[in-house]
Amino acid sequence: MSNQEKNGTLNIGIIGLRAGLGHIDGYLTHPNAKVKAICDVNTEVLNRTGKKYGVERQYKSYQEMIEKENLDIVSVATPNSFHKEMTIFALEQGLHVLCEKPIGLNAKEAIAMHHKSQEMSKRLMLNYSYRFTPQAVAMKQRIDEGLVGEIYSASFHWLRNISGFSQFSGWFGKKEMSGGGVLIDIGIHYLDKALWLMGFPEVEMVVASTHDRICRQLGKNLNAGFDVEDTVESFIKFKNNACLMLQASWAANILESNLIELRLLGEKEGILEQNINQGYTFQAQTFYESNGVSYTLKIEDVRPELCPSAMHSFVDAIIQDKPHKASSSEAVKVMEIVDAIYQSAQTGQPIFFPPS
Ligand SMILES: NC(=O)c1ccc[n+]([C@@H]2O[C@H](COP(=O)([O-])OP(=O)(O)OC[C@H]3O[C@@H](n4cnc5c(N)ncnc54)[C@H](O)[C@@H]3O)[C@@H](O)[C@H]2O)c1
Repeated sequence: MSNQEKNGTLNIGIIGLRAGLGHIDGYLTHPNAKVKAICDVNTEVLNRTGKKYGVERQYKSYQEMIEKENLDIVSVATPNSFHKEMTIFALEQGLHVLCEKPIGLNAKEAIAMHHKSQEMSKRLMLNYSYRFTPQAVAMKQRIDEGLVGEIYSASFHWLRNISGFSQFSGWFGKKEMSGGGVLIDIGIHYLDKALWLMGFPEVEMVVASTHDRICRQLGKNLNAGFDVEDTVESFIKFKNNACLMLQASWAANILESNLIELRLLGEKEGILEQNINQGYTFQAQTFYESNGVSYTLKIEDVRPELCPSAMHSFVDAIIQDKPHKASSSEAVKVMEIVDAIYQSAQTGQPIFFPPS
């Protein structure tokens, strides 16, 4: 019997304790969630995290943690190349999974994970954290209320300059472990967010270019084994004639250290969301014209209780037996576009959907 059935509290295990710390913080806000056990291959990180959060059950093996603890949910927050094996193992043991983005290394892995969650009738949610900000929730509400009209065009830029670039160390620059570069690291957040705000229209065609000319030489000089793109551009055309243009870079020659901008053009109004002071808080505005007069309005953030974190929202969905957000079926659609972007960049050809 699950803990939820026994006492209404969901027991949670966290695998990977860097991004995983954000998961712990997210679960701690929920009165029905208990972070019961943690797992990391790094003993020092494990001990430090256990001490900080008062979690005594600590494991270096995720299989052992899942087999020994009576868990309801596991959060997977390890390097991308481990997402599939850890998620499938947890689902097979009857747990729900909240997995970090990207869901896996490619669409094939994403489909296998999604199918396993269906086969086991267990939930698989993604931590697409940029959907859970107060501005994102307010923008989505406005769109769902019909104030924006049909969105026929969207674009985003997420550009960082080289000043904060740290991807030569660790696994982010190694395709075997990451699945790709800036697209799968940060671009994917806004690809998911734009698709979500647009209502996941069906894709017709993807064309893209990737570049590695800034980081390739630097990586070589440092003997870093860097083999992924540092910059990506893509044009995605949907079957309803809407389109999405994207550009992301880890190392653009620009003034700003971190520039994030999303534009949506709707039939009734346009929306612009931007990050504030090159950081990770946002503001959003809407623009429209009526009787020859142009209007600009700040989109007010929703109240904090209306935009819980992905972790809080996942626990709520399970307890209330309602659909969770950022589902694995949406993550499959995102990964099919990511695969098409890489394929188009590699072949120099547009990729038509469904891809072969
Ligand atoms: N949603 C977000 O905004 C966000 C932000 C950062 C990272 N991420 C994602 O989170 C994941 C982890 O990224 P990160 O920056 O924390 O990486 P990281 O390399 O900094 O940390 C990963 C942690 O996992 C541990 N680990 C590695 N292999 C393990 C294994 N087999 N078993 C148990 N522990 C293991 C490492 O020791 C390390 O502590 C990635 O998929 C990344 O894309 C998401």
